[in-house]
Amino acid sequence: MSAPSRVRLRPATETDIPDLERWDREPHVLACMGKEAEEGPADWHAELAFYAQCGEVLIAELDDRSIGVLQIIDPNRDPSQYWGEMAPGYRAIDIWIGEADLLGQGHGTAMMRQALARCFAVPEVEAVLIDPLESNTDAIRFYRRLGFRDVGPRRFDEDDCLVLKFDRADFG
Ligand SMILES: CC(C)(COP(=O)(O)OP(=O)(O)OC[C@H]1O[C@@H](n2cnc3c(N)ncnc32)[C@H](O)[C@@H]1OP(=O)(O)O)[C@@H](O)C(=O)NCCC(=O)NCCS
Repeated sequence: MSAPSRVRLRPATETDIPDLERWDREPHVLACMGKEAEEGPADWHAELAFYAQCGEVLIAELDDRSIGVLQIIDPNRDPSQYWGEMAPGYRAIDIWIGEADLLGQGHGTAMMRQALARCFAVPEVEAVLIDPLESNTDAIRFYRRLGFRDVGPRRFDEDDCLVLKFDRADFG
């Protein structure tokens, strides 16, 4: 049996903003953002207020160190309609590990497994979506290994992405 993960998720608060802003300047984080990265630094006060309406922002802690972030949104309640007109029953996730020295050590896998469990704990949720840049082949391999299946290419604003989906039936 594998050892229990040392990673846990907790809701982000305003006290996390310095870490979130620092991670946003990391080259490996900028690389996964697409055109958004050219728009300048995110306003995390506004981001936290936005997600409070239609999802949640979670910080991953390894022991007591904050190492990364997950954003979970209900596309049906998203006022920006990023995913377009969506029926209830979906969630969409963004994930990044901010601390470069902690990439590629299994923490992202632990974070995503916990995030999927959190999404599917809501009975109405039928599927979880993600939209990596088509160029982010490392992340796409990571998602496929977790069990996400390709839906297909989709352009969001100016970014060419690949949409992948994790169905409730595949979870368990
Ligand atoms: C994608 C990410 C969350 C995966 O978490 P992780 O802890 O690094 O991944 P794990 O150790 O659990 O799994 C390893 C796999 O992650 C993937 N991966 C993606 N980006 C990676 C990176 N920058 N460094 C190392 N592995 C990465 C690889 O597919 C790797 O598998 P491989 O051994 O076949 O190359 C993390 O690497 C990350 O934050 N990357 C930068 C930001 C990003 O691309 N986020 C996704 C946006 S859609």
